[in-house]
Amino acid sequence: MAQNKEKNTVENNLFQHIISHAKEYGFVFPSSEIYEGLQGVYDYGQNGVELKNNLKMLWWKAMTQLNEDVVGIDAAIFMHPTTWKASGHVDSFNDPMIDNKDSKKRYRADVLIEEKAEEYAKAGNPEKKQALLDTLARLLEKEDLAGVQQLIIDENITCPLSGTKNWTEVRQFNLMFATQMGSVADESATIYLRPETAQGIFVNFLNVQKTSGRQIPFGIAQIGKAFRNEIVARQFIFRMREFEQMEMQFFVRPNTEMEWYEYWKEKRMKFHKAIGLPEEKLRWHIHEKLAHYANAAVDIEYEFPFGFKEMEGIHSRTDFDLKSHQEYSKNKQIYYDDEIKDRYIPYVVETSVGADRLFLAVLCNAYTETTGIDAKGEEKTRIFLKLHPAIAPYQVAIFPLLRKQGLPEKAREVFEMLRFDFRTLYEERGAIGKNYTRQDLIGTPFCITIDHQTLEDNTVTLRHRDTTEQQRIDINALHATIAPHTSWSNLLAKMK
Ligand code: GAP
Repeated sequence: MAQNKEKNTVENNLFQHIISHAKEYGFVFPSSEIYEGLQGVYDYGQNGVELKNNLKMLWWKAMTQLNEDVVGIDAAIFMHPTTWKASGHVDSFNDPMIDNKDSKKRYRADVLIEEKAEEYAKAGNPEKKQALLDTLARLLEKEDLAGVQQLIIDENITCPLSGTKNWTEVRQFNLMFATQMGSVADESATIYLRPETAQGIFVNFLNVQKTSGRQIPFGIAQIGKAFRNEIVARQFIFRMREFEQMEMQFFVRPNTEMEWYEYWKEKRMKFHKAIGLPEEKLRWHIHEKLAHYANAAVDIEYEFPFGFKEMEGIHSRTDFDLKSHQEYSKNKQIYYDDEIKDRYIPYVVETSVGADRLFLAVLCNAYTETTGIDAKGEEKTRIFLKLHPAIAPYQVAIFPLLRKQGLPEKAREVFEMLRFDFRTLYEERGAIGKNYTRQDLIGTPFCITIDHQTLEDNTVTLRHRDTTEQQRIDINALHATIAPHTSWSNLLAKMK
């Protein structure tokens, strides 16, 4: 148990270091920080936006360019309110919540119980943990909220802030953000910020099918913001109230969905491995208890510093969504399959990954601390981001050794030569050692230094981030040396 506690502390510390690093080096800032921030909302800074955009573009290319049968769309965030009735979100996109009357703090009732179960496991009693989780699952299934409240009382769960057991009853809390459209604030004008991007795809299924002439099977991909009023937004950008999803719905003939489900499982896992997430930090989590619309579901989990958690969901959603939209909209969602001369509502296999969770996984995996002895014989910790060179915010940084004697001019020449093919940064202030360190901290894989020798023989120093190795190389060989590492084609080829 003591060992476990120690491990948790080390991992929590590591996560805190990563969060601080993300802020200090322009990756992620708390939203509206000058007003003390907004819980569960974050902004991406100058380096974060580059990394996130690269991940999004890579996903887009992997889904649409590598799959001839997938096209993209960009649907609006606002949708007709009946959409969310049809999808089930109005009636059942809820989390059970409970308030502590003393601290006035709100909690997810199921999370309080899950944390208690975790305490049992840490105390060496996994059976008690499982029994508690089973009871919770039974109560939630029956929607027995009074039973959930009783369980919290029976388990002696106290509020972490006030330390008291002065709880309210448990209530269901709908996670959708509602707002008013137009100037008349009546009931009919209530619309929602979409809680998932998927419904924008479903309602456009026939538009895309007809205008693209696609035959089933084919898919529609989309990247966009989603909003959930999470009761407990936590773990940095892991659970936010405003986040981004990258979703793809693949429309298939009924009874072929399990084949496609397996196909997309493999494809998506390949994607995560190709961008550098190690195999041992990725695992499948098969859903035992399925949502009412699914006949198979699995998560790809990544081992974050706070444990294995969902990064992507792959679901076989049957014909639930299209059928439901047909019912609510009274518009037929039927496809005529020319090959088998039959009509049907297509089945759907969905892949859904959070851009922010993917970003967090990539950042956590890249964050590296190594300890060594420096030139003065002192122990020194080196921190760098071991990002895949294809997705790093910058791929090349160029420095003249001095801001005089023709070195900046030569350095700018090299910059102009490389900037069209690589995300390249030019910096002439600061000492070279400090500049290298700064680039390490934002994950730039290659640094180039221009010195006096460059003016004589056209060679530069090329420094490699991961090994800190420095090589003397002809300027004309730079492109060919760097390109294989930063190439998106090479990366995409691994995803095929
Ligand atoms: N259309 C299916 C769907 O939305 P989900 O499991 O609720 O399924 C899919 O969400 C993915 O979206 C998750 O695997 C996660 O990566 C991301 N996600 C969900 N809620 C999130 C939140 N509050 N903050 C950040 N990412 C979130």
